[in-house]
Amino acid sequence: MTEVDSTPATSPGARPEGALDEQSSAAAVQAMFNTIAPRYDLLNHILSCNVDRYWWWRAARTFRHILARPQSRVLDICCGTGELTLELAKAACPAGRVIGLDFCPAMLAAAKEKIARSAYGARIELVAGNAAALPFDDNTFDAVTIGFALRNVDSISAVLAEMRRVAKPGGRVVSVELAKPGLPVLRQVYKIYFERLVPFFGRLATGKAGPYGWLPESLRRYPHQREVSKIFAAAGLASIRCFELTGGIVGVHVGVKP
Ligand SMILES: C[S@@+](CC[C@H](N)C(=O)[O-])C[C@H]1O[C@@H](n2cnc3c(N)ncnc32)[C@H](O)[C@@H]1O
Repeated sequence: MTEVDSTPATSPGARPEGALDEQSSAAAVQAMFNTIAPRYDLLNHILSCNVDRYWWWRAARTFRHILARPQSRVLDICCGTGELTLELAKAACPAGRVIGLDFCPAMLAAAKEKIARSAYGARIELVAGNAAALPFDDNTFDAVTIGFALRNVDSISAVLAEMRRVAKPGGRVVSVELAKPGLPVLRQVYKIYFERLVPFFGRLATGKAGPYGWLPESLRRYPHQREVSKIFAAAGLASIRCFELTGGIVGVHVGVKP
C-alpha cells in the first residue's frame, strides 16, 4: 500500500474535470449496467484474479473505528451488486446500519439476492436513487462510500458534494477506484490488460462489445489520483489521503467532512 502526496499542485478550483462532464449520460450508464448485471460479479472476480475482494476489504478498513461504533450509519452509493456494502456490514456492529444505493434495477436485484443469502441482511437496506441527488437529509451518515463508480458518474464534483452533504461533520467520504499506476512496466501491462484483454473477455461473457469496450475509455478519461485528491478538496473535504493498492492499480481516497 502506498500513500500518495495529496497536496494540491494547483488551486482547488482548477478542476481537471471538463471531459468528465460529457463522459456519459446517466441513462446510458444505467442501460449498460442492466445488461451486464447477471455476469458482473463473476467477471469482476475473474478479471481481477479475485483481488477485488481485498480492495473492498481494504477500503472498509480505512474507517473501521467508525464502522465499529455501536449505532454507525453508513451509506454506500453506486452499490451495484453490493460487494462493498456487504464488506461494510461485516465490519459494522449488529445495531449498525448500511444503506446501499444504486440507480440500476438489475444491479440492485443482484445485490438483494446476494445480501439475502448472507449473514448480514439485517444490517443492510437497499435504496433506488441517483448519486447526484441523494434522497437523504444533510448530516445523516458517519461515512459515505463509493466503489468503482466515481469513474462512471457524469460529474465527480457533483457526486462528491452530495456525499459531503449527507455525511455528518467528522464523517468520512471514501472512494475506491481504478487508478493510474506509476511504475512504467506496470503501466504498460495495465494498458494492454484494460485496453485489449478486458474488452475481449467482456465481449465473450456478455455477447456484446459495448459495456466492457467502454471501460478503457472511462479509465483514460478518469483523472490521476493526485487530481482526484484536488476534486475532493474542491468539494469541501478535509484531511484528504490517498492510498494506492496493488502497485497503484487502485486508489482509495478518504476525506473528512469538516
Ligand atoms: C462499476 S459498478 C460498481 C458497483 C460496486 N460499487 C462495486 O464496487 O462493485 C458502478 C455502479 O454505479 C451505478 N451508478 C452509476 N452512476 C450512478 C448514479 N448516478 N446514481 C446511482 N448509481 C449509479 C451503476 O448502476 C453501477 O451499479
